[in-house]
Amino acid sequence: MSTNYDVLLEQAEAITADEPDLIANLSNLSALVYHHLADVNWVGFYLVRAPELLVLGPFQGKVACLRIPFSRGVCGAAARTRQTQLVYDVHEFSDHIACDAASNSELVVPIVVAGKVVAVFDLDSPSVGRFSQVDADGLSRLGRYIEQLNWQQLC
Ligand code: SME
Repeated sequence: MSTNYDVLLEQAEAITADEPDLIANLSNLSALVYHHLADVNWVGFYLVRAPELLVLGPFQGKVACLRIPFSRGVCGAAARTRQTQLVYDVHEFSDHIACDAASNSELVVPIVVAGKVVAVFDLDSPSVGRFSQVDADGLSRLGRYIEQLNWQQLC
């Protein structure tokens, strides 16, 4: 399943370039990625709203878990380690938090601004092994772009 990440990045820049509002941009980026990638059932952001706590932000997909401490789940692991988490089979990840029972693989990119984790970008798929290292690299590139948005609005 190959995704053209150069095109995705261009589109991400095109839809956010003239809009200063962070939440508006994160909302449209969720929709862009959800519809650009094949075989995904949830795409969105968890925002750091209190120390070591992720709270649900803009997303596409089914109703999801509201609050995830840094100590829990794949999202928490991304926030804690500041490393993109590529999970081939969520059922093999002991601490996985199942928001949607249909999810079988997951990719989470940490968003780090001025040395602080401000959010994670989370993607779920109903297929085991949906995400490759190419996806991890492409979405991490998108993450680096997202880090340049107006994150000071979140404070
Ligand atoms: N599975 C995630 C929780 C968020 S949902 O996938 C939307 C986790 O283990 O952190």
